[in-house]
Amino acid sequence: MRLGKFITFEGGEGSGKSTQSKLLCEWLENNDIQTCWTREPGGTPAAEILREVILSGAASPFGAEFEVLMFYAARMDHVNQLIIPKLNKRDWVICDRFYDSTTAYQTASGGASKAFIDSVHNICLQGFKPDLTFIFDIDPEIARDRVLSRAALRGETVLDRFESEGMDFHKTVREQFQQIGLENADRCHIIDAEQPIELMQQQVQEIVKTTFLTYEISGLNA
Ligand code: TYD
Repeated sequence: MRLGKFITFEGGEGSGKSTQSKLLCEWLENNDIQTCWTREPGGTPAAEILREVILSGAASPFGAEFEVLMFYAARMDHVNQLIIPKLNKRDWVICDRFYDSTTAYQTASGGASKAFIDSVHNICLQGFKPDLTFIFDIDPEIARDRVLSRAALRGETVLDRFESEGMDFHKTVREQFQQIGLENADRCHIIDAEQPIELMQQQVQEIVKTTFLTYEISGLNA
């Protein structure tokens, strides 16, 4: 049985989900809950190697299904070597992107079907799912400005495999995430990512409190 909670943060590029996921970890730690922040693709040494390959664009000529299989090779290692052991220790795992990103991004190009992704998921992870998912929703035009200024601040001149896709692709990714949110309303909450950081974090914390109200760690329910 899963003892900790598994919470994922999803959304397009520049939606602020990384900042929000780290703020949630801080708040949980302040409430005496042991957390593990992680991300996809990546999170374990093997998965980080695959991350480099995927984000370099080296796998894209082989098609979206090939990329799905690479994401899943990374994800299997991440789930089996890090996420499940942490959950078994009662830690809460906060993950920046997980399998909803595969559905949103790898179907957006039209190259992989949802049925293909669902089958791969079931073969690799037997339906393993988050307890709670936040989807950060933002107009991709606004997000693109954020991504470009973030890259400039870091002195980066080259965008990665998915950042460099066109606006139509990012609009489709947004629609896919909205659809995932609607179809999985029991697990997913859509957050308006054009709001100030503090407001978004307040909403995230409220939803965590409501979802896990019965969780026995009293700090959360204070
Ligand atoms: P990252 O630098 O972590 O982007 P972000 O800060 O936006 O999360 O790069 C991850 C990229 O990989 C991002 O463009 C989304 C993409 N991705 C997929 O296409 N499919 C997936 O299954 C995952 C996990 C990520």
